[in-house]
Amino acid sequence: MHFFALTATLLLPLASQAIDIISSNDDGWAEVNIRSLYSALTAAGHSVVISAPAENESGTGSSTRTPTVLTEACEFDSCPVGSPAYGYNASQPRFNYVNSYPATSIQYGIQNLSTKFFDGVPDLAVTGPNVGNNLALTVLFSGTVGAAVSAVESGIPAIAFSGDTGSQTAWNVSPTPLYSQVYAELATTLTDHLIASGAPPYLPPDIWLNVNFPAVSNDSCNSADQFSFVLSRIYTAVPLISGADVETCGSTRLPTETAVVDTAGCYVAVSVGNTDKRDGNATQQAVVLDKLSDLLVCLP
Ligand SMILES: *[C@@H]1O[C@H](CO)[C@@H](O)[C@H](O)[C@H]1NC(C)=O
Ligand SMILES: *[C@@H]1O[C@H](CO)[C@@H](O)[C@H](O)[C@H]1NC(C)=O
Ligand SMILES: *[C@@H]1O[C@H](CO)[C@@H](O)[C@H](O)[C@H]1NC(C)=O
Ligand SMILES: *[C@@H]1O[C@H](CO)[C@@H](O)[C@H](O)[C@H]1NC(C)=O
Ligand SMILES: *[C@@H]1O[C@H](CO)[C@@H](O)[C@H](O)[C@H]1NC(C)=O
Repeated sequence: MHFFALTATLLLPLASQAIDIISSNDDGWAEVNIRSLYSALTAAGHSVVISAPAENESGTGSSTRTPTVLTEACEFDSCPVGSPAYGYNASQPRFNYVNSYPATSIQYGIQNLSTKFFDGVPDLAVTGPNVGNNLALTVLFSGTVGAAVSAVESGIPAIAFSGDTGSQTAWNVSPTPLYSQVYAELATTLTDHLIASGAPPYLPPDIWLNVNFPAVSNDSCNSADQFSFVLSRIYTAVPLISGADVETCGSTRLPTETAVVDTAGCYVAVSVGNTDKRDGNATQQAVVLDKLSDLLVCLP
């Protein structure tokens, strides 16, 4: 972990510390959203390394497989056919691909790239922003979630980000789509609040955050400062079976993340997940509520 120089601290009132962050996704290393997030987190002072699939691996959950030589080009022609199983951008070695699934890709980042770029294992893992929301049952199939859970299982706190707007788009599209910039900025805001909330580890053990951004359009929800963050749960609670949620906003039942992103306005859903890809319990939610208390609001 490195601490900001004085000048950077003055420019960035919130980010008190620069940390080492491993980044992955399931849409692939050359998808614009992961590159936008890299730029935003790096601009906020963090040391970020991308270790993500060479191809679109959407929907591959927690699958793992030994990486193989590319039998076709990487997505968007971002590497030629015949490229090695692991590769990187020669002019930006922090952009790494792994020709495998998201969970395998992030493990390569944690186990191998960390020794090259970081002073030990990463402080935090971020995945996405996924193209399309990962709400409720889709959490079980998402590779973006699978990579986050894989990081947590290796002891690295993790946040999975997903956004409603957009389709899979190459990294070098110009200009960068508005939604991609807004989602990167929102993800950086949440990440910096979590970092500022106390010393590592930034989350309780075996816990990750499932963060879903609602739609961005040219007419509404078109800049990060219009959004608010709401603590939510992944699944609809089952009466008499689901335990109580943490008490907040006058209730011991959190809104579902689907309800949050569907509420009129610009509300980001922040759910607390466990390694079974189920909702974390009230104790675990309480830690997150406390850490993000200055960021979270109640739904209207
Ligand atoms: C990526 O993979 C998913 C799941 O197979 C598929 O639905 C989607 O259309 C693919 N995206 C592209 C751009 O091919
Ligand atoms: C590699 O990095 C260079 C320099 O940042 C950039 O111009 C190029 O588009 C990148 N290519 C890929 C596939 O990341
Ligand atoms: C990554 O590191 C692990 C643990 O040190 C090692 O066993 C493995 O061979 C490395 N993988 C690659 C592709 O270098
Ligand atoms: C927003 O405006 C841009 C630039 O004019 C356009 O390309 C894009 O399609 C618009 N997006 C929506 C959702 O209308
Ligand atoms: C929540 O889970 C943690 C970890 O398993 C446990 O220590 C804690 O007691 C649980 N809290 C509740 C309210 O079940």
